[in-house]
Amino acid sequence: MSKITLHDKKFVPYISVEEIDEAISNIASEINRDYKGKEILFIVTLSGAYMFASDLVKKVKVDSLVSFIKVSSYQGMSSVGEIKEIFGLDIDIENKEVIILDEIIDTGITINSLYSSLIEKRPKSLAMATLIYKSNTYKGVAEIGYKGIVMSDNKFIVGYGLDYMQKGRCLPAIYILEG
Ligand code: IMP
Ligand code: MG
Repeated sequence: MSKITLHDKKFVPYISVEEIDEAISNIASEINRDYKGKEILFIVTLSGAYMFASDLVKKVKVDSLVSFIKVSSYQGMSSVGEIKEIFGLDIDIENKEVIILDEIIDTGITINSLYSSLIEKRPKSLAMATLIYKSNTYKGVAEIGYKGIVMSDNKFIVGYGLDYMQKGRCLPAIYILEG
């Protein structure tokens, strides 16, 4: 791995392919243990989580279904200062064992808002899994049950689904902003 440039910014290697793979194997083992004998519905948040989801579901041995959503957010309008819209949820989640898959949780605004919307649809259970968890910035209340890599650096990263203005998403490893 060597330094890369995306648009105007330089990024240096941060998390290797092997470390990502190990983190995903760990999450899969926990899910295999916790959901033994059940059927999981994975809900994947596009676009960033597509690579994580693809690698994780292959390692999960429990029966599972997968569905994809896109979330848009903006400020204003409500007392909590935001409104979320969910696009593409084409499956009834009532009474299902649902796990939301996200590639990174930063402030947690996105996933907490998604959690609130989905819990109203009365799933049997609703858990959240993320590949990367930024421990210093999370301000959410919902518990993140499955965390692959806990990151204490409060810096921007790219690769493995994560983009900087659409670039970097297809890189197999993760890079961090230089400096
Ligand atoms: P949150 O709502 O602050 O938790 O942010 C969640 C979303 O912001 C993620 O799903 C990403 O799309 C994006 N994001 C947060 N941190 C990063 C980063 O370091 N690199 C790229 N995207 C990020
Ligand atoms: Mg995301």
